[in-house]
Amino acid sequence: MANTILVGAQWGDEGKGKIIDVLTESADIVVRTQGGNNAGHTVLIGKTKYVLHLIPSGILRPGKKCVIGNGVVIDPIGLIEELDGLRKMKVKVNGNLFISETAHLVLPYHRELDEQREILKGKHKIGTTKRGIGPAYGDKAARTGLRMIDLINPERFERLLKMRIKENNEVLKAFGAKPLSFNRVFAEYRAAGDRLKPFVTNTVVMLDREGRNGANILFEGAQGTFLDIDHGTYPFVTSSNTTAGGACTGSGVAPHRMDRVVGVMKAYTTRVGEGPLPTENAEIADMLHAMGREFGATTGRPRRCGWFDSVATRHATMVNGIDELAVTNLDGLDTVETIKVCIGYRIGMNRYDYVPNDIEAFGKCVPIYAEFPGWLRETHNARRWKDLPARARSYLKAIAELSGAKLTIASVGPSREQTIFL
Ligand code: GDP
Ligand code: IMO
Ligand code: MG
Repeated sequence: MANTILVGAQWGDEGKGKIIDVLTESADIVVRTQGGNNAGHTVLIGKTKYVLHLIPSGILRPGKKCVIGNGVVIDPIGLIEELDGLRKMKVKVNGNLFISETAHLVLPYHRELDEQREILKGKHKIGTTKRGIGPAYGDKAARTGLRMIDLINPERFERLLKMRIKENNEVLKAFGAKPLSFNRVFAEYRAAGDRLKPFVTNTVVMLDREGRNGANILFEGAQGTFLDIDHGTYPFVTSSNTTAGGACTGSGVAPHRMDRVVGVMKAYTTRVGEGPLPTENAEIADMLHAMGREFGATTGRPRRCGWFDSVATRHATMVNGIDELAVTNLDGLDTVETIKVCIGYRIGMNRYDYVPNDIEAFGKCVPIYAEFPGWLRETHNARRWKDLPARARSYLKAIAELSGAKLTIASVGPSREQTIFL
């Protein structure tokens, strides 16, 4: 399979978990390289649904190694809950999980600050997952963060945590929030450190060794292109590089070792949280929500929904270097008579064929649509390209062509079997 970076080409929740699970069959190692437990990646195996937040989705395939890379921010308590949840579901997590020593920690003051900042922003809030992601990456950039290697060293952890809690308690008090008790946090996180210690290692050296021995590595992107801290709809973004470059910096695997980039996108668009979404459409949202679909895997919030936006996905192809596209949730459009696809934006008399950087301008963009006749047939039983209705095939070809990359996978349902390879 060679080394493959998989990224979300839209606003997250594109179905990356499902496609990772499918691709893991021919990989040896799956690596998460950015984000934290703000991510929620759903994999359906048989009738069992798994939702992964920090642990790579590859963990569900026995014999595969999984790495949480240096670019990830780890909430140790969240990670332990996830480990326990998987074990309860009879998933083996032992010698197959490796956690980077240099991954930064999400600590209780990060979660509290995330919440307080959102409250202060009022109607201008970002709509974060409140997992403390922004403040944790903020500390990393400010060089005041604590890392896994600190967590597993009791003396150093005690000293650093004491300083950080002291400073952050002043900030929390200014927000009118309750300060944290050092003793309580220290005891809880020390215990977490002991549990996680066996997994912690130098993952950069490990990935280099594995790569030289011929391992195929799959890089599991979290979030999506337009949530990228540099290339997304700032400030309505997450705090990491969700685009392909993040896979290199977040793992220590060099760019020249990457062989291909797969972009995952839904056959329509969704977004959870605030910020512009030009093709947002209430009818599509009502239809999908009525089917019980498009509720957040991490927070349960209903996702905002809209038509496919090819201006956005073309931009995603550019910034990620997407070679191949996996289109998911085709079946979500089975009952739609006329399907719209955004092929450009208009602001007043001006036409835009790219995503404007000015967030206010992006908020004013009115989509220019092309229309496609719906296939009005169920697709969830299709297993081969030729099983799909001709109109569904034309639609898929059109959105891939507009996005500027080659269509290689179409997904017609959440399970492994509901996957069509081209
Ligand atoms: P991720 O964050 O990109 O991994 O995506 P999520 O798991 O948050 O959300 C995608 C949702 O779509 C999950 O509920 C998946 O089980 C589901 N899903 C993925 N592909 C398909 C598909 O082709 N059809 C249907 N019906 N559901 C899908
Ligand atoms: P996966 O990996 C969809 C969104 C939040 C919010 C913004 C900032 O499942 O695709 P944060 O908590 O990161 O500071 O929130 O980013 N967001 C996601 N949206 N899928 C995700 O992950 C997301 N992770 C964060 O809703 O708008
Ligand atoms: Mg998700």
